[in-house]
Amino acid sequence: MIRINKNYSKLQASYLFSNIAKRVAQFQEGNPDRELIKLGIGDVTRALPSSVIAAFHEGVDDMARESTFKGYGPEQGYPFLREAIAEGDFRSRGCNIAAGDVFVSDGAKCDTGNFQELFADDAVIAVPDPVYPVYVDTNVMAGRTGYSENGRYEGIVYLESTEENNYVPLPYDGLRADLIYLCFPNNPTGATATRAQLESWVDWALANKALILFDAAYVSFIRDESLPHSIFEIEGASRCCVEFRSFSKNAGFTGTRCGYVVITDECTVYDGEGNPCPLKPLWNRRHTTKFNGTSYPVQKAAAAVYTEEGKKQVRELTDYYLENAKIIREGVQSLGYHCVGGDNSPYIWVKSGMDSWEAFDMLLSKAGVVITPGSGFGKCGDGYFRISAFNDRDKVIKAMEKIKLALS
Ligand code: MLT
Repeated sequence: MIRINKNYSKLQASYLFSNIAKRVAQFQEGNPDRELIKLGIGDVTRALPSSVIAAFHEGVDDMARESTFKGYGPEQGYPFLREAIAEGDFRSRGCNIAAGDVFVSDGAKCDTGNFQELFADDAVIAVPDPVYPVYVDTNVMAGRTGYSENGRYEGIVYLESTEENNYVPLPYDGLRADLIYLCFPNNPTGATATRAQLESWVDWALANKALILFDAAYVSFIRDESLPHSIFEIEGASRCCVEFRSFSKNAGFTGTRCGYVVITDECTVYDGEGNPCPLKPLWNRRHTTKFNGTSYPVQKAAAAVYTEEGKKQVRELTDYYLENAKIIREGVQSLGYHCVGGDNSPYIWVKSGMDSWEAFDMLLSKAGVVITPGSGFGKCGDGYFRISAFNDRDKVIKAMEKIKLALS
């Protein structure tokens, strides 16, 4: 008899964004003539930059000629992309990252979801609340939690991100965790962390032999130059942190799929007897066993992001979404609502005071706008909703007019 993984019964019936998509489809079915504007899931709408497209085409043309054809590539990524990433995203900012520290993948969702496999079944997990649901759900699937009650799984340490701490939780006396997920600029709140705040996490992790999984998928939206762009800008981070990045939100790869993980040679974890061991070979073992590499044309396309033209175009693209974010943030503030994010981030986290799903239904039916209910990201998201700036300008302007009418 084939029996199922019992941990799946602990999960919500469906993944947050699938649940939202289902509700929206139901609404659309009942209201076929209603125009809907989607500011829910953070999915980009602008075309890939022309330099990326040109490189993508070149990659496809290479596959069309036997002299340049590629079969299986290195699982960790082609050297040309790993080197471009190490130089363009890290060494250019003073971080000592080598091409060999970079593992190219098909996106940060898979990487942040898969990484927990490397650790003990009884590792204690700490996540921010609200949180990107992938970090939690994958640990539930792996059996590191009990059942959920009142929106919280037994066995997970929740780091509350609230108005009181400006949505940036810090380590506290008595905190006990082995694996800590952090994400800045944050999904879903859009909050950013200062150098001092990240230093306190790195110091805590080193002192407690813990590991930080740092999700920097939204780093290209940082415009405040005093903010760190990478956890590796923090002293000691190379020994206790892993960083996840994505080409989805900066270069429009949500449908193209490419991301990467950075692990240095010094990054240390511990075996069952407490002996130190390097983390990188473990991920390399996992990655080479379960992944056959990102497609060559996609890696060619991703490498174009680091050319002079590519950098300029990515900046224009992220500036475009940031202008949308400003329109949303100012619109929300003009209604007298407190919000965070939207300046160094494409997400705006709005304190509405309403039940999150009621706010979702109300904005869907009254305004025809799809947002993401805050409680879908955790208990601290109750009374909040998230608006995504990833859409075309005219739609964002129209959505804000409709939201203003619905909320005032
Ligand atoms: C989100 O809306 O939170 C993101 O699009 C999710 C993701 O990147 O997987």
